[in-house]
Amino acid sequence: MRSRILLFLLTAVLTVANASAQGPIVIKFSHVVAADTPKGKAAVRFKELAEKTTGGRVRVEVYPNSMLYKDKEELEALQLGAVQMLAPSLAKFGPFGIKEFELFDLPYIFPSRDVLYRVTQGPIGRELFRKLESKGITGLAYWDNGFKVMSANRPLRMPADFQGLRMRIQSSKVLDAQMRTLGALPQAMAFSEVYDALRNGIVDGTENPPSNLYTQKMYEVQKHVTVSNHGYLGYAVIVNKKFWDGLPGDIRSALEAAMQEATRYANTIAQQENDAALQAVRRSGKTEVHVLNDKEMAAWREALLPVQRDLESRIGRDLLSSVNKEIANSRR
Ligand code: LMR
Repeated sequence: MRSRILLFLLTAVLTVANASAQGPIVIKFSHVVAADTPKGKAAVRFKELAEKTTGGRVRVEVYPNSMLYKDKEELEALQLGAVQMLAPSLAKFGPFGIKEFELFDLPYIFPSRDVLYRVTQGPIGRELFRKLESKGITGLAYWDNGFKVMSANRPLRMPADFQGLRMRIQSSKVLDAQMRTLGALPQAMAFSEVYDALRNGIVDGTENPPSNLYTQKMYEVQKHVTVSNHGYLGYAVIVNKKFWDGLPGDIRSALEAAMQEATRYANTIAQQENDAALQAVRRSGKTEVHVLNDKEMAAWREALLPVQRDLESRIGRDLLSSVNKEIANSRR
């Protein structure tokens, strides 16, 4: 409620101040997913709120679907200042030397969204953002997408069903290990290339939350989907540090308030967007959807347990133990 009041007050104050002759400050917000996804919708919500709170002194240009930059390129473009804002998946910071974010890729690490939010919205989340500063990047917020399903052109019920499959992954060593542990062959690839790679048989399958599987039409070229919820996909909303530090103080506060509101919105719609997408995949009749039963789920959990042990030194023992402490606290 307090932030809503703050939003209202700031809108009033800054509208008056918008007399200046200079054109608006432009924020180019680039991302790789479709507009009708949790991230796509939250980006537009941020645009609306930011332009409203600053009384038009800021204009946010949202570029979805990799129309400006693909995965790896967009982080480089941000560091160069060619764009000002991104919301990449937490699985994509490893290649930039910030491998600690790969903790979010560990299979079955988050027993609930509650624990996830304890991590992202608590000291661990802030500590991870501090690691971005040395790369000229400032972290603003964590946006939710959801838990992933697996897809392929054959049923994936038991870990053995993955044997020899070429599976597309994001550029994360944890996801690489996850697929190898299942006996599959991981293939890191930019998001914008996945649909064609599946259709042309360059890869056999992939993993993503239903909202991406549906909006990228991947389900049209995958006969089977397994609702495994084996891993999480979320985002870090980040800005170019020099750009952000260079903003007038009143504008930065208005944008921070707008981001808080957009984050609340993003994390509110994420689950329902994914539920609706999974329903739409079912209704399409193009893909058989299988939900793991208890016996199958137990087999997946057991098969994937070694991943955390094997990648512990990469992610950081201290970091992992603080996450496990949050998990233990949530059970009290
Ligand atoms: C992927 O590459 O599969 C996802 O990270 C895309 C996204 O941003 O949701």
